[in-house]
Parts: sequence; C-alpha cells; structure tokens
Amino acid sequence: MLDLQAIVDDIAAEMARAPDRGKVADYIPDLASISPDHFGLAIITPDGSCYAAGDADTLFSAQSITKVFSLTMALGTVGDALHRRVGVEPSGSSFNSIVQLETEQGIPRNPFINAGAIVVADVLLGRSEPNESIAEFVRFMRALVGDETIAIDRDVARGEEETGFRNMALANYMRAFGNIHHPVEQTLKLYFHHCALALSCRQLALAGRYLMCSGLNPESGRRVISKQRTRRILALMLTCGHYDQSGEFAFRVGLPGKSGVGGGILTIAPGVASIAVWSPGLNEQGNSQLGTLALERLVQRTGWSVFEPVFAEELPSS
Ligand code: DON
Repeated sequence: MLDLQAIVDDIAAEMARAPDRGKVADYIPDLASISPDHFGLAIITPDGSCYAAGDADTLFSAQSITKVFSLTMALGTVGDALHRRVGVEPSGSSFNSIVQLETEQGIPRNPFINAGAIVVADVLLGRSEPNESIAEFVRFMRALVGDETIAIDRDVARGEEETGFRNMALANYMRAFGNIHHPVEQTLKLYFHHCALALSCRQLALAGRYLMCSGLNPESGRRVISKQRTRRILALMLTCGHYDQSGEFAFRVGLPGKSGVGGGILTIAPGVASIAVWSPGLNEQGNSQLGTLALERLVQRTGWSVFEPVFAEELPSS
C-alpha cells in the first residue's frame, strides 16, 4: 500500500528547499506580487480521501487551468459541434500565439491555447449577458468542488482586462474570420473572468474529480459529462495542456495535465487520483517550475502513468 501522506509530505519538504523556483508571471499586476516561495500539493482519491501538504489551502489564480472547466461546459452546451470552431491538435506554440490563426482561417488549434478558450467563451455566452455567463461558470465550479465560497478574484479580472492586448488581438482576428459571434469585449469579459477564478490546491483537486471518475462526480454520483467526452478532455490535456511543453510534460509525468500562469497544474491519474499542485514560479514556457518537478517526483514514487499497464493482472489470460 502506498503511503500517500508520507509521499506528499516528502515532496513538499523537497520543494521547500529547492533553490531554482522559476519566475512569477509579471504581466498581470496581482500575479506579479505573489511570493515564489509558495508550494502546495493535494491529492484526492475516488473514495474521497485527501492527502495534502504545504500551502494546499492557500488560494491562487487558476488562470488557464479553468480552460478545462469552460471546455467541459461548452461540450455540455453544444456537444461535438464545438469542434467545427476549435480544433483538437497540439499547437507547438506558446499559449498566446497568433501565428497559426492566419493560415488556419481563424480556427484555433485546440481549446487550451488562449485563442481556443476565447472561442469556448464565445460559445458559452450564447444569448446571455457576460455577467449571467460568469455567474453560471461560478455556480458550475461551486457544484464541482462542493463549496459555495468559490469565487472570482475581481482584481485579477480587472488586471486581465487592462493588460489583455494580445487576447484582444486574437479575438478581433478571429472575429474577422467569423469565428467570434459576439462583440469581442463581451466574449473577452467572460474569458478574463474564467482566468481570474481563485482556488486552493485542495479545491482544484476536488473540482477535477469527475475527470478521474469517467465524468461522474464520485461524491454526488451525478454525471458532469459523458464517459467518452471525459476521455477526450483527458486526451487534450495530455497533448495540449502545457502548450509547447506538452510533449515534455507527457515524457516526464505521463499523465494528462493542465497548467496556468498562476503556477497551478491539475493532473489526473484516471480512476486513481485527481492531483493539484501550485508553485507560482514559472519556467520559460510559462508552466510551474516546481509544480512540474513535484509531479515528476510523485509519479516516480507511485508508478502512476497512463502508459503503465496497471490493470494487466485483471486481463483474461489467453
Ligand atoms: O493572458 C491570459 O490569457 C491569461 N490570463 C491566461 C493565461 C494562462 O494561464 C496561460 N497559461 N499557462
């Protein structure tokens, strides 16, 4: 039996000593002021047990990790038709790149780059006002976590709006191709508020439970999304969840994961664990430096990997 509490404690102790902590994102004022000394880790297993260490209960800006949850909502709203407007291929580019949009007629490569998540926000706006769609997103997140305190950090949302020139360029460019259907200010308002959701590692790991349990919330038994769509979201997390470092994350960690510039990463071991890690210092690709290292240590200690034949002993012998 794995002693998960001892493992997370060991990892947190090692990360507390790590000298190279990366560089905190500085393009949004409220992110720039966070100390790189933070480190938190939380693991939730299907039976509801939680193994947490370090700053697992400190709130941080979820940022692009919320692209997983907005995608889940959009698939629930328009289903597979979403993929007429957003692709499913890795971009091999940075999260805010605009280059591929010109040759690919305003259709973003995948829902996890900014352009793709902006289209997802446009889909979620439907016929509503941005404020209604923001409230709906918060309700969805509260239900996933089972916590009515979940909220958006309004200062971060304002910072996104004030500094989001590249996102404005992306949205306007896609609108020129007809792939943004609302006024760009409205679509971006929703997108920026998605990014500004504040969560702790424990809350994030709870939010990810349906991804570990084939689309079901293991606590309520309610279906969040179908089994097949859950598999597809996990596939996108593995291939696109870390932008141009997705290959390296798969190589080092071997589990589907989604990063955010706030320094968080949500990682799923299907059927086994929902894992959230947070350390605000980023590497050159904008992914958490120590978060990635901590997950690498975790899979070394547990053997968790989507490439490991964990169920081989249960297969019928030929
Ligand atoms: O500039 C943005 O769109 C961000 N607020 C979200 C970016 C993000 O987290 C990308 N990822 N690593």
